[in-house]
Amino acid sequence: MHYRNLHDFIFRLEREGELIRIEGEVSSNLEITEITDRMSKSPKGGKALLFENVTGSSFPVLTNAFGSERRMAMALGCDNLEEMEKKVEGLLATKLPDGLIGKMGMLPELYSLSKSFPRIKNNIHPPCQQVILTGEDIDLDRIPVLQCWPKDGGRFVTLPVVFTKDIEGRTRNAGMYRMQVFDKRTTGMHWHVHKDGRHNFNAYKKQGKRMPVAVAVGTDPAVTYAATAPMPRGMDEMILAGFIRGSPVDMVKCKTIDMEVPAESEFILEGYVDPEEKRVEGPFGDHTGYYSLQGEYPVFHLTAVTHRKSAVYSATVVGRPPMEDCYMAEATERIFLPPLRMVLPEIIDYWMPWEGVFHNIVVVAIHKEYPMQARKVMNALWGNNQMSFAKMIVVVDDPTMLKNHSQLLAKIQENLDLTQDLVMTEGVLDVLDHSAPHPLFGGKLGIDATERLEGEPTRRLCDDNELNEEDILGAIRGSKVAVSSRSVGLHTRNPAVLVSVKKEGLSSKHVRERFRPIASSLGCILVLYDDIDLEDSSLVLWKAFNNVDPLRDMDLVGNGVIIDATKKGIADGHVREWPDEIEMSKDVKERIEQRKNEFGLG
Ligand SMILES: Cc1cc2nc3c(=O)[nH]c(=O)nc-3n(C[C@H](O)[C@H](O)[C@H](O)COP(=O)(O)O)c2cc1C
Repeated sequence: MHYRNLHDFIFRLEREGELIRIEGEVSSNLEITEITDRMSKSPKGGKALLFENVTGSSFPVLTNAFGSERRMAMALGCDNLEEMEKKVEGLLATKLPDGLIGKMGMLPELYSLSKSFPRIKNNIHPPCQQVILTGEDIDLDRIPVLQCWPKDGGRFVTLPVVFTKDIEGRTRNAGMYRMQVFDKRTTGMHWHVHKDGRHNFNAYKKQGKRMPVAVAVGTDPAVTYAATAPMPRGMDEMILAGFIRGSPVDMVKCKTIDMEVPAESEFILEGYVDPEEKRVEGPFGDHTGYYSLQGEYPVFHLTAVTHRKSAVYSATVVGRPPMEDCYMAEATERIFLPPLRMVLPEIIDYWMPWEGVFHNIVVVAIHKEYPMQARKVMNALWGNNQMSFAKMIVVVDDPTMLKNHSQLLAKIQENLDLTQDLVMTEGVLDVLDHSAPHPLFGGKLGIDATERLEGEPTRRLCDDNELNEEDILGAIRGSKVAVSSRSVGLHTRNPAVLVSVKKEGLSSKHVRERFRPIASSLGCILVLYDDIDLEDSSLVLWKAFNNVDPLRDMDLVGNGVIIDATKKGIADGHVREWPDEIEMSKDVKERIEQRKNEFGLG
């Protein structure tokens, strides 16, 4: 099953009962976010939403189209994401047979592979150019670009497929980088320093040349997904899209720049980025659940907007997980497992918990055959493309644990020797990490939870502890900063105690000192801010993964560890701004609550 364009996909979503059309008028300013956020957080990701009546615009808005496992699989034309993993695995396992007959036998396979390559069409009237606007006619205000969250710096194009080329014009790159609308004809270009779009830009900057950039918004789902995929530099994402679709992506020449774009796109923004120009972009309520901070980014000047006559504007809303991007990341998890295994064949499987917002934690299951292999895997992952952003890597040897999370936690709590099994190091971090003292790099934590092999030091595990809730309460109360606590795995060898604290002007270091005397007897003490419900495990994990720089915020004390997941500030040596958590404004929440039945949120 493949889709020629977004309309085909919308048609299929609707036919399968996966789409709700919303006829009532809604605003692209916060209201669409509130509805989409609530839909994303309903069981199994709810439905895709097509807003047909958006205040001040004649274009409908599509959100949450990828926002469930089923819809993500449908987007990739398969029944489930594992099927796509198998397809990639099959491709990578292809070996050229010996002899002419054998080679001839492969022709059908090679023919089907050749269909992955994009085709340049000389179509003079492609769908994406049914309407062509240039010069003074360009007006981004006509497009219902969303302001997603109350403290956003403005309106952001959130699902753009940004096309660039290397300076020689030979290799094409497609990446998804949000774009803040500055005015009718300019936007920001938020490619992070680690990304290929930025790499291409750096070469233009070096030569002081203007860089042509084309942006497709609303494409067939394989193209949209491919722009988010961590492809190796120099590989055209349109080949991946063609492979997923099983048919080539048809590309056409832009009207005002020397670039090609998918012919079936809804909207195309053509223009250039001037290497000498920068402008403050953000803040933006990001997929971490926090606002990403303002920063200086290049400016994109539009030379043309072209679109279909009946164009649908496609957007995503990101925020505290789970949201639509979680399912896109799950697709990446599956599709990129086979290529990862080519470099690290011992990897059986991996899992990126939503609460870790992808760059904060990866749990990997390996076939372990020799001492310290878990360390090898950690180091290799920390050196591998976008996996290098991972702040925490946990290595286990039983893949069933990746699906059975209480078993995983129990295993770690029962088997870990905190004095031997933790690996602390430093390295690159995602731009969106806010916990490290410096942007872009900071502490990393590896946890080796694999079974020991002969030749590895034996774990020094304490006998079962005899702690009881009373002991814990007493010990925690003695700290004088704790507001409440909750124990997890009390009778394991490494019990954990979650503690919410009031810092009351104390620095993090001083707060942690209050727990030092009891740390060794309590196991793991996770310190959180007092505004948090300790019974909400997902919330606790999300805070812990987001707010900890392992090198600065963890103290190993005997057989125990104190982990500080509170907000940090100047008193803690954290001079960077600490971002706010995203929250919708009360009036918008109330307005949507009153109309919830209209939006399928009843
Ligand atoms: C919804 C969404 C929004 C994203 N926004 C950005 C962004 O603003 N900047 C960025 O550098 N990466 C962003 N990403 C991640 C990149 O698209 C992703 O890392 C991609 O592999 C980059 O491609 P590249 O390496 O070819 O540049 C986003 C991903 C998604 C799913």
